[in-house]
Amino acid sequence: MSKVSASALRDDFFVASPARLPRIVELHAVNAADDAARLLAGLLARDARTDPKFFYDAQGSALFDAICHLDEYHPTRIEAAIFRDARVAIAREIGREFPAGYQWVDLGCGDAAKSRDWLAAVAPRRYVGVDIAEAWLAPAVARIAEAFPDLNAIGVVADLARPLTLAPVLNEVAEAPLFFYPGSSIGNFEPPRAIAMLKALRQLGGGRGGVLIGVDCESDPQRLEAAYDDALGVTAAFNRNVLRVANRVLGADFDLRAFAHRAWFNEVDSRVEMHLVARSPQTVRFQRPHPAERDFEADEVIVTEYSCKYTPASFAALLDAAGFRRQRVWQDPAQRFAVVLATA
Ligand code: AVI
Repeated sequence: MSKVSASALRDDFFVASPARLPRIVELHAVNAADDAARLLAGLLARDARTDPKFFYDAQGSALFDAICHLDEYHPTRIEAAIFRDARVAIAREIGREFPAGYQWVDLGCGDAAKSRDWLAAVAPRRYVGVDIAEAWLAPAVARIAEAFPDLNAIGVVADLARPLTLAPVLNEVAEAPLFFYPGSSIGNFEPPRAIAMLKALRQLGGGRGGVLIGVDCESDPQRLEAAYDDALGVTAAFNRNVLRVANRVLGADFDLRAFAHRAWFNEVDSRVEMHLVARSPQTVRFQRPHPAERDFEADEVIVTEYSCKYTPASFAALLDAAGFRRQRVWQDPAQRFAVVLATA
């Protein structure tokens, strides 16, 4: 590990003790002041909004992990089934597309568990795990390095909202990047930002790279609303956690019980919206980065996340707009999720 940094989002919930320390490159100059200023600006805006990245402190990451195990939350389970059933066919396609070898770039790798299953089936020259949370990244990449001793495995601390920062690391070797972006995380960007991100990935590949990406295609409002408002209340806790993050980062005094979790499917824009709704009129005070206060009326809303849903055709249009013209799609029998391999 070459460098350790402090993040505005990090607390001391998670302690890592990897057996073998991999190379970790830090590209994201974590700027606690910037993060705090953006979070505060969003909360003070007339239409209050927080960036989904503020969910993911250690507690939020653990809650998201629990979400992935919920009966109601389909994306993780269905994607895993497609990966399992189509792994050989997908690996064969990857081999055909990249006969000269490639780098497997694991975007938002978390604990890198999904990549571990893939690396046994595909044979990249290099593994690059990318995540904003260095505390999770170092042990995850260490486990990859241990499981695949012949693989050159490195970790990169970077903000996926700025993918072009990856260029210097990816250009260290001649092989083109294949970006692995599972879990329908692309859905948390609205379509114009999703296209911009895909364009950046295409640019990073210099026209030779590709993406292997998971996309949620569920369109049943009832199922979607259950997936984002589960009976156990795990997603509600995940949503409210952003107020806990605000209390810590901004020295705010949000009362978490004073906000209700709401998730609804906006059929017009094909996205699940997560909101926090003030249960009663209230005033919230902030101490950092500058003193401020905000009144919330009863039923006033903080928008905390959009999770955009696609059909294979609407997602193909996005990829096409980003310049990824060769596309192959694998789906579950009920067509609720898609795994797409796209190259330029
Ligand atoms: C990370 N992302 C793809 C999840 C999603 O489904 O949009 C985040 C999430 N929010 C609520 N449940 C899960």
